[in-house]
Amino acid sequence: RNVAIVKVPFGQGAAIPGAELGPAHLIHAAGLPEKLKELGIAYQMTDEISRPGALPPIKARNAKRLAEVLDVCGRLADRVSELVRQGAFPLVLGGDHSISVGTVAGLARHYERLGVIWFDAHSDLNTEDTSPSGNLHGMALGISLGRGVPQLTGLKGIIPKLAPEHVAIVGARSLDPGEKAYIRSLGIVCYTMHDIDRLGIVRVMENVISHLAKSTDGVHVSFDIDSIDPREAPGTGTPVRGGLSYREANLALELLYQSELVTSAEFVEVNPRLDSNDQTAKLAVELIGSLLGEQIL
Ligand code: ARG
Ligand code: MN
Ligand code: MN
Ligand code: MN
Repeated sequence: RNVAIVKVPFGQGAAIPGAELGPAHLIHAAGLPEKLKELGIAYQMTDEISRPGALPPIKARNAKRLAEVLDVCGRLADRVSELVRQGAFPLVLGGDHSISVGTVAGLARHYERLGVIWFDAHSDLNTEDTSPSGNLHGMALGISLGRGVPQLTGLKGIIPKLAPEHVAIVGARSLDPGEKAYIRSLGIVCYTMHDIDRLGIVRVMENVISHLAKSTDGVHVSFDIDSIDPREAPGTGTPVRGGLSYREANLALELLYQSELVTSAEFVEVNPRLDSNDQTAKLAVELIGSLLGEQIL
């Protein structure tokens, strides 16, 4: 399979600027192309999804930069859809997590029962009513489930893009009250850090894989770098202590590679402005390697 890299230098779905520098740092400072070459993976570098120009604001109760998020996600959805049509494996580089709305919208055109594994300290299931911040990156998964800002849930005309039974959250440790209530009411599979401490990451991933293997026709990995412990991944806008270790995260992705289930991926929320010596960008490149088949021996 041919990996198609999609650069999305966009950070306006988050409160703190800097995530828009992610793609350049993954590619130039952290050596993503060299990693893929080393692994013998054929890849293409597609044109970046450019930053939105000056747009008239869209009025919303509690959703900041809606016009910009909508514009970027619309163009990203079309790109991802075209790459899937060509038979490529889309590898989207963020950017903040709001861009997932576009990635998933593009995938939903091709997969009727799309599975999503959401690695994150957060669940990104807020709505305008429950969001403490109004930042759209904290609403991205909810939007793909059909809940939230109508302009975004309706993107590309497929509502919802995802069914709750096809979603698995891994690494959660900072959930807002409205998000907890939503996860419980829909029975969304959510392996918190508590669960990972108790069961171990291997059993957690085996459960996730068997849960999604039965019922989905494609699996997207949406990897928020803040799922990793901030000691290892300091370069991110909303760090939360008590996260995945370096080996837990790589092992989880190695197991996903072995499952042969994954059809696309995105790596988001690397903020080079908050990073030290590109350590977080380099970690992201190692994680991408693990997902795409890098082995220790
Ligand atoms: N739950 C918080 C909010 O809604 C933080 C979300 C952080 N999301 C992220 N993709 N890093 O604002
Ligand atoms: Mn730079
Ligand atoms: Mn996130
Ligand atoms: Mn997060």
